[in-house]
Amino acid sequence: MKGLILSGGKGTRLYPLTYTRAKQLIPVANKPVLFRVIEAIRDAGITDIGIVVGDTAEEVKAAVGRGGRWGIQVTYIHQEQPLGLAHAVKVSQDFLGDDPFVMFLGDNVIQGGITDLVRQFQESDWNAQIVLTRVDHPEQYGVAELNEEGQVVRLIEKPKDPPSDLALVGIYMFDHHIHQAVAEIKPSWRGELEITDAIQWLVDHGYKVYPYVHRGWWIDTGRPGDILEANSLVLEELEPVIEGYVDRDSEVDSRVTVEKGAEIINSVVRGPTIIGRRSRIVNSYIGPFTSIYHDVTIENSEIERSIVLEHSVIRDIPARIQDSLIGRNVTLNRSPMKPKAFKMNLGDYSQVGLL
Ligand code: TTP
Repeated sequence: MKGLILSGGKGTRLYPLTYTRAKQLIPVANKPVLFRVIEAIRDAGITDIGIVVGDTAEEVKAAVGRGGRWGIQVTYIHQEQPLGLAHAVKVSQDFLGDDPFVMFLGDNVIQGGITDLVRQFQESDWNAQIVLTRVDHPEQYGVAELNEEGQVVRLIEKPKDPPSDLALVGIYMFDHHIHQAVAEIKPSWRGELEITDAIQWLVDHGYKVYPYVHRGWWIDTGRPGDILEANSLVLEELEPVIEGYVDRDSEVDSRVTVEKGAEIINSVVRGPTIIGRRSRIVNSYIGPFTSIYHDVTIENSEIERSIVLEHSVIRDIPARIQDSLIGRNVTLNRSPMKPKAFKMNLGDYSQVGLL
């Protein structure tokens, strides 16, 4: 079996962060979401993995390389335009050949991995298996309708009157029949070749499509709030280790990870939280559910349930920063210069909530 990870797309809902970075490389609990996806597939015993890349190809290639680090072999597949998930399958046909494969969206985070579901598909004679999860508001998702035997009979995008509470998760397993399906379907109203249409084509042509109902959490990190949510959930599961330096005046609880080279000076850090390599926390409070990435400086400030990316500096901020996603090389400080005012240099689509 092969793996196919979709790591193209535009990530418009994450602007401005994704103007300058592939959204799949945004770290959750200090590890890029894409790396978590690679590890989930590798842990299911799959080592031949294709990664579909678009405009951010160079950045993804530089971060992932050829896969030796994970004991896998990576093949990059270029998708000229993000023309849909089924289009991504279409451009991957040479790589996939006639092999069955698991397709995983590169921006999804799932609890507990995919080992069980890959095994179930491998042991079955099904043509496709889709991962579903129960949700509170099925009208906001792609929803599956099952028949009495539990087979998938219909997929409906954001139904007004949902036939079930089973929403599609971004993980799919297919045999070679999917290639005929993606060749037959037409672009949707939004101009994309939809994977749901391809799956519906399989159902309508008598192929066996079965669900796998996932019971843990699952997050599609499409919007900033989803990333913070995924960060909290992954941090909850992290095994804490202290490899950096914590001085005697600091209070760091048992659910905090301090990576190598990080320093905590005269500060309070409440877990679950992770402080990345070479970051310095001085006279500050870092609250629960926070990931501070590499080479960050935080001084005389308080921050909670947030993510701060590499090389950013937060200094002398008089109010607590909360529920925030702060990009790379950001400087946030208090200026002594008159007049007393907020002085900002924000990129397009930035969102700032002031006191
Ligand atoms: P989406 O979240 O549906 O799309 P997007 O990344 O373009 O984001 P936005 O809606 O904010 O603009 O994509 C899901 C995943 O699949 C994501 O990892 C990107 C990837 N993808 C491709 O690789 N090729 C495609 O044609 C599309 C549509 C998505």
